[in-house]
Amino acid sequence: MVVIYPGSFDPVTYGHIDIIKRCARKFNTVIVAVLNNKSKKNMFTIEERVELLELALVEYDNIEVDTFSGLLVDYTKEKGCTTLIRGLRAVSDYEYEMQMALVNKKLDDDIETLFMVASGKYGYLSSSIVKEVAGFGGDISCFVPSIVEKSLIKKIEEGMD
Ligand code: COA
Repeated sequence: MVVIYPGSFDPVTYGHIDIIKRCARKFNTVIVAVLNNKSKKNMFTIEERVELLELALVEYDNIEVDTFSGLLVDYTKEKGCTTLIRGLRAVSDYEYEMQMALVNKKLDDDIETLFMVASGKYGYLSSSIVKEVAGFGGDISCFVPSIVEKSLIKKIEEGMD
């Protein structure tokens, strides 16, 4: 079974990696689909976000990193895969996730969204909070892999120039 795990991944954190690796143990192939949304202001370019994901997930041969733009349901059709994975960190995620799952279902009745409960130790993580901590010089090594940490610090230093 092939599943798609979509998101912005700006940048990927241990919270995302936890979901992806657990999916890779349960499904034949996991497609990590990075949203190429030009209207959203991301810190990392689409190429950088893909590269960081590939480096972070290098040891898994059933994980594919890809990009998409436009509607997620159109991308799922293109890939011939109708199962989406979303992580649930806290009750606060539920409303938004329900809305997305129901809209996607309305747009394409074949789509099924499966929710995976995030590990408790990453339940508080988001890409923005990691960027904020890094921006103030805090230690982010427990939130992201070292390659992401280095790239994030470099971005912040470049932004200061
Ligand atoms: N661990 C850590 N952080 C997590 C996480 C986890 N398990 N799950 C989510 N997050 C964080 C992300 O880092 C992100 O943080 P940020 O807001 O600080 O950047 C935040 O939670 C949102 O997660 P994400 O999965 O990236 O959601 P998104 O809202 O950026 O993207 C899409 C969701 C891409 C699936 C959705 O926008 C989409 O499908 N867009 C395409 C257009 C479309 O089809 N729209 C109709 C769908 S209803």
